[in-house]
Order: sequence, then structure tokens, then C-alpha cells
Amino acid sequence: MDRTSAATRVPFLDLGLAFAELSDRIEAAVQRVLSSGRYVLGPEVTAFEQEFADFVGARHCVSVGSGLDALGLVVEACGVSPGDEVVVPAHTFVATWLAASRVGAVPVPVDVDPRGYTLDPDLLEAAVTPKTRMVVPVHIYGRPTEMDAIAGVAARCGLFLLEDAAQAHGARYRGARVGSLGGAAAWSFYPGKNLGAFGDGGAVTTDDAELAERVRLLRDYGAPEKYRHELAGTNSRLDELQAAVLRVKLEHLDEWNDRRRSVAARYFDGLAETDLVLPEVPSDAEHVWHLFVVRTRQRDALQRWLADAGVETGIHYPRAPHRQPVFADLGVEPESVPVTEALQHEILSLPIGPHLSDEQIGYVVDRIRAFAS
Ligand SMILES: Cc1ncc(COP(=O)(O)O)c(C=O)c1O
Repeated sequence: MDRTSAATRVPFLDLGLAFAELSDRIEAAVQRVLSSGRYVLGPEVTAFEQEFADFVGARHCVSVGSGLDALGLVVEACGVSPGDEVVVPAHTFVATWLAASRVGAVPVPVDVDPRGYTLDPDLLEAAVTPKTRMVVPVHIYGRPTEMDAIAGVAARCGLFLLEDAAQAHGARYRGARVGSLGGAAAWSFYPGKNLGAFGDGGAVTTDDAELAERVRLLRDYGAPEKYRHELAGTNSRLDELQAAVLRVKLEHLDEWNDRRRSVAARYFDGLAETDLVLPEVPSDAEHVWHLFVVRTRQRDALQRWLADAGVETGIHYPRAPHRQPVFADLGVEPESVPVTEALQHEILSLPIGPHLSDEQIGYVVDRIRAFAS
């Protein structure tokens, strides 16, 4: 079948269906904001921050304009300065690295665990130098990082522990929600996330009142009150419309994550007999399946085969941050991050989301099995 003419039978993620399920409530929430005359830093933002903090199990939540800003404002609020080092996973979205580089700090990559694809705690301590200020584990694909081991090293070495929870809304590690496990956590509400807005958005959660207050100042021109500017802040605010939408969606997050778990269970079932390397499911954590990522040496051929069959897939990510032009100057040796190097060429993200039908899942499984046979 010609790739371009194949009708898409299984989109990677259908956000229109997510809206359709909640449209009455979302439209009412939007209408409420439009009629209120308050569009920035009003009651919806205040209510969402409280509700999201409660959900995560953190004392404070400060909403901001994006996940990158959430990471970056914590880095800034912690006083990380030019020349300081921030340890990051080699395998992540580029934002984790940019949060460090944008204050002039140096992102120092540590390779990921070959099974879970999260920062390998056994490699962490060797990457710490006298300049290291912070470590930023990423709960990539919705899978919690091995936090106890990382927290142990962070405590021993005096590092601030910032969770990048942009892909893991609702996940749990040893019973506790991610986002409550370090000094602070950064969240993204980009539309495709497990908790997604209708535009950009982000948040910081933390138990540290002083840190929360600093981020609160930084996100709003460094001003504790109008026209009194104490810090060289920025403008990075979640708006009232997005906050109102997120409040509706937050009520459905656990249930939608359960549905993602059912999709994952069906993939495990259907793909068990294939040659694909399936994701590892941690025994002490609750994965929320932001992405279902399989691994195969025949990744490109499988992706083409599925595209021809009308199945949209993704690659998260085709080029690791150390291979991006923006980080060429760091001179990271590819051999120093062998797992990440291999992943770039072998990973494939299958369609997943709360609105994938049984029929669609069955079709994806069937097409993958046909590829293998
Ligand atoms: C792991 C990770 N960190 C940070 C971000 C940045 O979030 P945003 O796109 O909202 O800036 C994303 C999302 O894109 C992400 O996947």
C-alpha cells in the first residue's frame, strides 16, 4: 500500500476525543472564565494550584507558562549560576537540558538504565563534581525513576533534587505520587500530556514555602505587588482559561490513566510472542503510560510498515540532546552514554491514550505480528 494514500486508521493520539468526552463541562468552564472578565492570575489559577498540590501531595503549587519554564524557574530560584553543573539524564526531551543551559549552567548527562530508560542511579555519583548543584531525574514515558537511590546520592552530595514530571502526571513511586519526592517537581500541561491544556502550561510543586514564593515572584516580573519589582523575573503565567480546563481534566486524570494501563496491558498480551523489547514494568511503582515505547533493531522498517497500514507512531526521541547542534560545544562523547545512543535508533512509540478503542489496539497488535512473521 502506498504510504501517503493509506487512510490513518489509528492516530497516535486523538485529542479531539478527549475534548468530546468532557465537552459539556469544558465549555461551561470556558464560558465561566469568559464571562468573569478575569483572564490572568485569577480565581481559576488559585483553585487549580490548590487542587493540583493536593493531588500530588505537595504543600505548594505555582503554575507557570510551560514545562520548560517550570524547570527553568526552579533552576533559577535555587540560585544555579553560570558554570555550575546540573546532572540530567542523557535520554530525555531537550527541555531538561535547556533548563540548565539557559541560566548558563552546564548540563552533565548520565546514561539511563537499559531496562527502565530512566537515569541510572549507579552512574550518578561518578558524574558529581564540586560544581554540581542539582540533579534532574525524568520520569520518562510515565515511568517513575528509581528515586530512593537517587535521593540517597543527592543527600550525600548536597544536591538539590528536581523531578522532571512532565510525562508522569498521577504516577506513583512506592505509594507516593511523583512530584512529591524531591525538593521540587516541574510539570508540563502541553496538550498531549496525560494532563493537558488547550495550549502551553506548566507548574512547579514543592513543600518548600520559600522556593514556591521565589518561583511565584519570578513568574510574574519578580513583583510581590504591582509595580514593585524585587527580582529580575519573567512573564510566565498559566492563564485562567487553561486553569479552568485543567481543573475539569484533573478530576478525570486517575481514570484516564487507568484506561492507559488497560491499553498497555493489551499491548503486553498481544506482543508478548514477538521479538520486540517491551517496556519494563516496575514492581514498586505505578506507571502512567504517557508513551508505550517498544524497541527493535528494525525500528525504521516497522515504522514504515505501520504507517502503510494507517497506524501513526512516534519516536521519543530520534536525536538525543547531546547530539543536538545547540549542545555540540559540550563535547559529550557518544561512547559515554551507550544506552542512550542505542535507544535513538531502536525505540518506537505505539499509539496510546485513554480513547484508543479495543478495535484499534487489536489492529495495531495484528499489524505488528504480521510484520514479525
Ligand atoms: C520530559 C520533559 N520535560 C520537559 C518538557 C517541557 O514541557 P513544555 O513543552 O511544556 O515546555 C517536556 C514536554 O514537552 C518533557 O517531555
